Amino acid sequence: MKIVHAASELYPYLKTGGLADAVAALTGALADHGHEVSVFLPGYRAVLEHKDAAGAERKLRLKIEMGDQFLSGDVRVFSPRKNLQVYLICRDEFFDRRAPYGNGERDFEDNSDRFVFFCKGVVETLRLADLQADVVHGHDWQAALLPLLLREAERRHRVTLALKTVFTIHNIAYQGLFPATTFARTNLPDELYHIDGLEYYSQVNYMKGGILFADRVTTVSPRYAREIQTPEFGCGLDGVAQTRAEDIVGLLNGVDTAVWNPTVDALLPARYSRADLSGKAVCRAELLKQVGLAANFTGPIFGIVARFADQKGIHLVLANRDFFLGKNRRLIVLGSGDKRLEDEMRALATEAPTNVALVARLDEAMSHLIEAGSDFFVMPSLFEPCGLNQMYSQVYGTVPIVSRVGGLADTVTDADELPGSGTGLMCEPTAGSLGDALERALVLFADKPRYAAVQQRGMARDFSWEVAAAGYENLYREAL
Ligand code: ADP
Ligand code: GLC
Repeated sequence: MKIVHAASELYPYLKTGGLADAVAALTGALADHGHEVSVFLPGYRAVLEHKDAAGAERKLRLKIEMGDQFLSGDVRVFSPRKNLQVYLICRDEFFDRRAPYGNGERDFEDNSDRFVFFCKGVVETLRLADLQADVVHGHDWQAALLPLLLREAERRHRVTLALKTVFTIHNIAYQGLFPATTFARTNLPDELYHIDGLEYYSQVNYMKGGILFADRVTTVSPRYAREIQTPEFGCGLDGVAQTRAEDIVGLLNGVDTAVWNPTVDALLPARYSRADLSGKAVCRAELLKQVGLAANFTGPIFGIVARFADQKGIHLVLANRDFFLGKNRRLIVLGSGDKRLEDEMRALATEAPTNVALVARLDEAMSHLIEAGSDFFVMPSLFEPCGLNQMYSQVYGTVPIVSRVGGLADTVTDADELPGSGTGLMCEPTAGSLGDALERALVLFADKPRYAAVQQRGMARDFSWEVAAAGYENLYREAL
């Protein structure tokens, strides 16, 4: 099949979260299966500076209609692996910035224009380069206008640009919600500014467009597909999601075993496997050293790698500060984002420098080292569309402590409830329930044979992308 993906992030070129990992792994797996895959990405500064993009060919010049203006741009293309082309939609005014979405304090004011331009750039490239896509597959709100813009361009130009469209919701909490005045920039027919279209309480909602107008809609775990149809998790789009109940399927993300695999991980000081965990001890010592904690420590290390956003339940960890101040335990946190959470975590680390370490930056190598060097990985998310770190943890022999939501509930089982098969510890997303799980972790850690059994079962799990990629292939075929 000729499969076109469009997303705002793609590992290793630009990553702020799991979206980048998921899109890279999925498109890579599809390319390996022999499909012709194109991935469209905004031409961000970081991407253009990456060595792979150095030789990118300037393929097309674009003139994109935005309201009553025309904005120019260009399209660059490179091929990082067989059967895979990366298309960059470039316009420096929009994408030559230090970060993709905002300046740290708040979102860029022209985000609506930036991603309308991106989606229109994808559609225009499909037309001018005559890509003849079987499937056009957009990810999250930044690509959610694609199905509508594509059908509109087909109508205007009397061509077929794609046979079917697919939209994947990685996180319904980020919707692309903009003032009504931005609708004019889409050049879509006025009747689409309507309750059955993009209008949402007198604003424009991109994600709503993706959910309503794609031929098929997917979420990144089965449980999240059901959750988004409820008021508790739908973030106001539960009613919209319900109208597509028949067409929404949950396909669980996987682990890219070329990147997240302790037996080959080049970002670690030592590699290890289920059969020989001695390398994990080397990683542990290196982790303690790198974050400035005493290396002779033998108690449990609790690790966290997360965007600091309300979603991740960092405040529940902070509410258990007394636990982490207790004797013979360590907390090592890699994360940044919400300033208030960062400040509170830093205060905890400053107050208890022997027990708690915070690394407040984006650091790919450190994220691998924490997965490898910790004994437990703490992820008490309030909601979690899929979550990747709890899967990475199991593969790295680090027992995950997760809340029972979304993809966390689909990928972890509780070792106290299921002594013969559990691979983690589970809690409700409350401070009290997390506190109880942390206490259970101490008990588990003290029982070496039981801890080892839980660890071994996690490491034996197969989260490879083969299953997920096959799921998407079936979905495409069935839609076509
Ligand atoms: P989300 O996409 O909601 O952030 P996921 O669990 O799906 O959550 O994916 C998070 C990804 O981002 C993982 O690959 C994780 O290692 C990575 N990550 C999060 N914070 C950091 C950080 N500060 N430095 C490096 N990687 C990070
Ligand atoms: C989003 C979700 C996360 C998911 C990731 C990749 O960022 O928050 O749960 O794992 O997308 O699909």
